[in-house]
Amino acid sequence: MSTQLGTKAKFDVKDTGLAAEGRRRVAWAGQSMPVLHAIAQRFAKERPLAGLRVGACLHVTTETANLMIALAAGGAEIWLCASNPLSTQDDVAATLAVDHKMNVFAIKGVDSARYYGHIEEVIKGNPQFTMDDGCDLVTTLVTKFKDKLPAVKGGTEETTTGVIRLRSMEKERVIAYPIIAVNDALTKHLFDNRYGTGQSTIDGIIRATNVLFAGKTVVVAGYGWCGRGIAQRARGLGAQVIVTEINPTKALEAAMDGYGVMPMAEAARRGDIFITVTGNAKVLREEHFLAMKSCALVANSGHFNVEIDIEALERLAEGEKSRPREFVEQYRLGDDRTISLLGEGRLINLAAAEGHPAAVMDMSFANQALSAEYLIGKRGTLSPGVYPVPIEIDEEIARLKLAALGVSIDTLTPEQQQYLASWNEGT
Ligand code: ADE
Repeated sequence: MSTQLGTKAKFDVKDTGLAAEGRRRVAWAGQSMPVLHAIAQRFAKERPLAGLRVGACLHVTTETANLMIALAAGGAEIWLCASNPLSTQDDVAATLAVDHKMNVFAIKGVDSARYYGHIEEVIKGNPQFTMDDGCDLVTTLVTKFKDKLPAVKGGTEETTTGVIRLRSMEKERVIAYPIIAVNDALTKHLFDNRYGTGQSTIDGIIRATNVLFAGKTVVVAGYGWCGRGIAQRARGLGAQVIVTEINPTKALEAAMDGYGVMPMAEAARRGDIFITVTGNAKVLREEHFLAMKSCALVANSGHFNVEIDIEALERLAEGEKSRPREFVEQYRLGDDRTISLLGEGRLINLAAAEGHPAAVMDMSFANQALSAEYLIGKRGTLSPGVYPVPIEIDEEIARLKLAALGVSIDTLTPEQQQYLASWNEGT
């Protein structure tokens, strides 16, 4: 259930000699992905994706490798590139290219030109289906490769930011084919965004710095599902947590969850560790850097590296910058205070750690695999637009995950079913 059939694979990976290490780590992650494994086994028998060229732009991790292997088991031909310049695990890219003969274009630490060059390689493979994380593949396709669009029958999008971009495309009527918003499935965002980002963001900050969270003041900018997860885990480690928000309902929720809520102008003076997860630009900017305590750590876990105004930091430091550890850039400001930027302001959980654990990606990627099967089954019948993951798929994934965890639940009695269906029984 591993090797992709077809012609010789193309690839651009860092070092094919890393394949053996990648193979071991992919297998290890696979052990925590029982739902995806069950789907892969069925796909191998039923081949629902037979002959389908899938262009995937995802973080190239051990978990993504398991998804690609499942799609290949279903008959897909894989063309994979990275969805972030810093998130690729080079050993994983190597094993997919060498052992599985997939077309893989991903190297950790490439510059922006090579990153987009890799996306273009995938598009040149003539995808019939796109699997995106952040929408860079789809936007490149619709802006630079219009001639390739007629062949594309459908797609999926993994993340909040990507779905927001797709909805703007839909509004402007430039979306060219049906795309399922995997992020919006309950078995995706309630778990991946909250528990996945919660744990992996803290993991990334700790791996980058070895900082002690206990006793620190952690400022979390944004209280969406990712922010909720990060705040919860930071508190669990003994930090005081402050949340900043622009949405009144989310701010109220954060206040009632017991966090300090205040504008960033105020939080900037109090925080030791700052984490942005808003999806917006320049959330931390010059006025905030000027107010921060010395030795503050600033990190981002939102999809793009726009949330921290790095240019402002560069300006304030006037070149006084050092690199005390691999993912730490320490800026010395004019008054001798230092501010440390982690992971170049890119997703810290994937830059300095390994992204979300496999057990949670199991559900996200089960949604990806089943959504691809669903859309291909509907080939040609849906008009261009953004579609939800069908609730039956969402619920099936929850059931499979519960079974894998050995958790059983109640079912409605006939009397309860009847009660729920009735309207005439009141007090
Ligand atoms: N996004 C966040 N964590 C991830 C992981 N481990 N693999 C792929 N995409 C991710």
